Amino acid sequence: MGKKLRIVLDVDTGTDDAVAIMAAVKHPDIELMAVCSVAGNKPIENTTENSLRVLQALGSEVPVYRGCAKPLVKSITPTRIPDHGGTMTVVDGKEFHVHPEYLNLPASGRSYEELPAPAYYVELLRNAKEPVTIVAVGPLTNLAVALIIDPSIVKNIERIVIMGGGAECANRTPVAEFNIWADPDAAQWVIHCGADILMVPLDATIKTAFTKEDAADFRALGTFCGDFCADLIDLRIDADRAINPECPDNNTAIHDALALLAAADESVLRDVRRVRCDIGLGDFAEGATLITHSKEFLTSEFTKNVSFAYSADKEAFKAELLRLFMQ
Ligand code: BDR
Ligand code: CA
Repeated sequence: MGKKLRIVLDVDTGTDDAVAIMAAVKHPDIELMAVCSVAGNKPIENTTENSLRVLQALGSEVPVYRGCAKPLVKSITPTRIPDHGGTMTVVDGKEFHVHPEYLNLPASGRSYEELPAPAYYVELLRNAKEPVTIVAVGPLTNLAVALIIDPSIVKNIERIVIMGGGAECANRTPVAEFNIWADPDAAQWVIHCGADILMVPLDATIKTAFTKEDAADFRALGTFCGDFCADLIDLRIDADRAINPECPDNNTAIHDALALLAAADESVLRDVRRVRCDIGLGDFAEGATLITHSKEFLTSEFTKNVSFAYSADKEAFKAELLRLFMQ
């Protein structure tokens, strides 16, 4: 085996973020250097504590750096609700959450690090002797702040893998995916920072959605990771059905874990194209991933800036997660 991939995982844990953390800790080809939390699915207190809980349950001492509590710009609009709308409902007095306030794991016995996440990025990437891969599966605020403080840190970024966006899919507004919508200004900053960018959008993640039968295969492993992954799949399907009883789908995409696995081995993705991508910053297009198709606009100044996965291989994704969660 070659050298391990040095990864920082940026999360808003989050049920699918939790699966990504487990996969990162268990992956034999990954050295998980740190977990950075950010506000997104839940406020920063929750996403930080949830990340610590998952690591503790795995017996991992990977440090957690607490990140930004608000997006770069959008929170100055007082009426903008920052969380993931439409992920909770009450049926017959019972609450269903796609992302519970706190994951159903023992409270963490340790704290996050003193350095805030953006400061950690600046320090790490200024001094890194070897390049670092950043897998960002929440809003991109931490990385944007770090890049604003010191744009030269790009030189030590191997690649940024982003779970976010959608060419033909959306989940937060009719045109926007949640992670990008939550902080569109940060996303626009990050995807134009000059680093190698791989986007794993909804177009790819929904191709890998798991059913309750898939959950049973994870449970059959008889391990903590298998059980917890199965619990989270079941919880997400039950919540989706309670929230949207009309929806014919009986499955759930574990978005963030696909991005994490793609960082280690891109073969879980399909139809990855080099495109020009920008982010809508206002009005109806706020948070939309805008792909430029017209060749006449692609000039030496307006260049293709990201690799964008239009699809993914569910069986490869599932087989790899099962392999990682066997222990
Ligand atoms: C993304 O939004 C969050 O709810 C998930 O954790 C995932 O990162 C999917 O749109
Ligand atoms: Ca997430």
